[in-house]
Parts: sequence; C-alpha cells; structure tokens
Amino acid sequence: MKVIVIGTGYVGLVTGACLAEVGTEVVCVDVNRTKIRNLEQGILPIYEPGLEEIVTRNAANGRLSFSTNLAAVIPGAAVAFIAVGTPPGEDGSADLQYVLQVAKEIGQSMTDYLVVVTKSTVPVGTAVKVNREIKQALQHRDTLLDYDVASNPEFLKEGAAVQDFLKPDRIVVGVNSDRSKEVLEQLYRPFLLNGRPIIFMDIASAEMTKYAANAMLATKISFINDIANLCDLVGADVNMVRKGIGSDARIGTSFIYPGIGYGGSCFPKDVKALVKTGKEYGHTLRILEAVEAVNNDQKLVLFDKIRNHYDGELAGVTFGIWGLSFKPGTDDMREAASLVLISALLEAGAIVRVFDPVAMEEAKHTLGDSVVWCEDMYHAVEGADAVALVTEWNDFRLPDWSRMKGVVVFDGRNIYDLPYLKKKGIVAYGIGTTQPN
Ligand code: NAD
Ligand code: UGA
Repeated sequence: MKVIVIGTGYVGLVTGACLAEVGTEVVCVDVNRTKIRNLEQGILPIYEPGLEEIVTRNAANGRLSFSTNLAAVIPGAAVAFIAVGTPPGEDGSADLQYVLQVAKEIGQSMTDYLVVVTKSTVPVGTAVKVNREIKQALQHRDTLLDYDVASNPEFLKEGAAVQDFLKPDRIVVGVNSDRSKEVLEQLYRPFLLNGRPIIFMDIASAEMTKYAANAMLATKISFINDIANLCDLVGADVNMVRKGIGSDARIGTSFIYPGIGYGGSCFPKDVKALVKTGKEYGHTLRILEAVEAVNNDQKLVLFDKIRNHYDGELAGVTFGIWGLSFKPGTDDMREAASLVLISALLEAGAIVRVFDPVAMEEAKHTLGDSVVWCEDMYHAVEGADAVALVTEWNDFRLPDWSRMKGVVVFDGRNIYDLPYLKKKGIVAYGIGTTQPN
C-alpha cells in the first residue's frame, strides 16, 4: 500500500517513518524545502529518540521518500494523511488554514480513489470542511473522483513518539464508509498484532476524542499542582500524597506528577481550543477554564519560591537553570515553562546561566543573548547563588553536590531527595513538599 503523509513535523515524520518500518511505501511531503532537502540527506529537523535510525533505514531500503511536490507523488496512493500544524489563532481556536490548504491541494492533484485522513488535531466539524475543499477542487477540475474523508487523531508523546506510534494503547479512527474502514484497518493491522485495539467510530466522535484525551490529561496535571500548592501551605508532602492516591487503580499513577505547569505544543493549545469550541456552542467548559488558569499560575510557582527566599531582592543574584525544553527527550521549546521562569528572573534583575542537554540551539531562537549559555550542568552553576531544576533530564538526576557548595536548590520537578539535601546542609525547595528549611 502506498501512503502520502503531508506535513513532515513531529507527527508527520514519525507517522511516515513508522508506517514505512512495517512495510508500507510512504512519501512524506512538506512545503519547507530545506526540511525536505535535509531529510533526503538523512538530517532530521527534530530531536526524537529512535527516529533517526528508522528514517535512515527506511530511506535506504526505498520504502520512505521525501518530496515537496504533492501532485507528483500522489498517483497510486491509497491514503493521504494530513499532518500539518493547527496552531492557536488569536481567539484560542485552532487555526485550520494549513489543513484546509492541504485538503484543497489534494483535491487539485488526486488521480484515483483516496482515503483522506486528518491526523492533525482538529475541532469537531473539520472533516466536513476538508470534504468541502476537496469537492470544490474536483469540481474546478471538472473531475468526478471517488474519495472518503476520515479522522485518525494521533496520541504520541514527544520524547517517546516512536515507541508510542509502534505500540499504541489504541488507534482511534472515525470513518463514514465501509471502504475507508477496510483500507485503514489493513494499514494499521501490523500495529495491532499484540492485541492493541483499533476503535472505529463516527468522525465527529473521533475528532472530539483527541481533545477530550488531552484535556483529561491536562486536568490531572493541574489538579495535582493545585493539591501540591495546598500541601506546601499545610505542611504535607505531595510526593507521598501522589503515591497514596495513585495506588488506587481508578486514579492511576500516571500524569499526576506535580511540577511547574504543563507546556508543549499541545496541551496549552488544545485546552484553549476546546474551551473555544464550547463557547461557540454556548457551553462553558468550567473545569477546563480552571485547568488553564491553574497552569498559567503554576509556571510561576518556582519563581514565587525564589522571590520569597530572597525577600524579593533578586537584582544581581545568579541562577543556574538546568533544562530548557518543555519536557525531557525533546528539543521542543514551544510553551516551555523555562521561558516563563527565565523571563521573570531577568525582569527582576537576576543573572541567568542555562544548560540543556539537547535544546540549547532551539532555545537560542527565543532567548538570544539575554542569558549565559553554558557548556554543561556544572558550568551553569559556576559562581551561581542558586540552581533551578526545570526539565528532569536523566543527566540532572544525581548531581555531585560537592561541586555546588552554598548553591540553593529549587527543584521544579521533585526529583531530589530534599531531606537528604537538608542533612548535607543544602538549602532546597520542591513543589508541594513540606518546607524543609
Ligand atoms: P509541526 O509544526 O512540527 O509540523 C507541521 C509541518 O507541516 C511543518 O513541517 C510545515 O512546514 C508543514 N506544512 C505546513 N503547511 C503545509 C502544506 N500546505 N503542505 C505540506 N506541508 C505543510 O507540527 P506537529 O507538532 O507535527 O503537529 C501537527 C499536528 O499534530 C497538530 O495538529 C498537533 O496538534 C497534532 N499533534 C501533535 C503532537 C506532537 O507531539 N507534536 C502529537 C499529537 C498530535
Ligand atoms: C501530549 C500527550 O501526552 C500526547 O498523548 C498527545 O498526543 C500530545 O500531547 C499531543 O496532542 O500533541 P506531549 O505534549 O508531547 O504529549 O508531552 P507530555 O508527556 O504529555 O507532557 C506535556 C507536559 O505536561 C510537559 O510539560 C510535562 O512536563 C507535563 N507533565 C506531564 C507534568 O507536569 N506532570 C505529569 O505528570 C505529566
């Protein structure tokens, strides 16, 4: 089966590479010529563990190729995935211009029956718009071609994208014809051999499932962050509370890790977009409005602790920042909490020294020369008064504290053993842990 994936970003490239890995012939298409030229030379646009290996292998065996010319590669394809960005518009709603542009281009170039699948995260009703674009483009060509539109939201996480795609918890597919259902069932068969389910449903429900999933996960995070902040006030330890509640299978252990707020290209924009969809239908999603408000405050929780510790006098105080990306395993800086903290520190007159194992290049686009770029984690705390652990990369898990005499520790991800640090005479703060000092 031949498949076209349009949009070669996090989702498109992982989708294309993983489909090729199980035997499908895939062409990844993008408007960004540099990206495609680099990919043809084996240079990836993103850092994602395991991705380079399968891209290189499948490009070499001829199953995976790259193009900027959709019309040239679409003949013979059974499926076209739309995997372009859906960034937030000014009012918070998902901007569908890229998705609809691609739908139009598909209509202008398709040559045979095709299943057009939206993989981008899109609001309910988008498949109808995609269908309209294709139909209009075909009418312009005076062509009668059969096609189906389907919805197949993607649930992969950055940093674990390849594994998530190859071994999904489930695959959700919204269809409105038996023909498209059969094509997608066959395409995904290799991923379902170990009993993983493919869940077919109507298209609107599939579109909604994606937002509901991200909104639920964001809710868990804001909930535990709210509880963590209360733990700080009452003198409880949220690490214990997390274990205590997580062992109840109905609650579960995942996505209840407190921190400095969720970031990334998805939760913030998808929560906003779902709230906006609610408003369009006259329905206020009150829980999600609170989830977003809690998260915005949480991005400053470490700064508040820092300000309290220094009695508001931050001018000239030097901070080492460990980790910049919005989570470990990626160089993605979109909506990273580090940016909020760093900007608050700089505004207060502090000196900021930063290190991230992977995201330094990406972060330079935003931070420029406002911070000191360091060569490693210890260089970042050289001469520093304090260190803020922002992204819990493995590299930061067991520091040599003897190299950091007198440095105050602000742990934004609760990865350090605060009582142990206290015993060693190190002043340290966590999120929602009983204040040790
Ligand atoms: P991205 O910004 O990394 O990549 C989008 C790509 O689309 C870019 O390379 C861009 O050049 C290309 N593009 C734009 N217009 C095009 C056109 N007309 N023709 C061809 N290519 C075009 O985006 P992403 O992070 O991969 O996200 C894509 C979608 O998937 C979004 O809707 C997002 O919400 C959703 N999603 C993302 C993730 C994730 O972890 N990043 C996970 C699940 C779902
Ligand atoms: C998230 C979802 O997990 C994916 O299922 C989804 O496909 C994707 O969004 C998307 O729609 O694009 P991602 O944003 O890559 O994936 O990363 P997550 O692991 O979900 O982390 C998101 C943010 O939440 C990070 O800033 C992370 O630090 C934070 N987080 C996560 C917490 O603060 N606590 C937790 O317990 C878990």
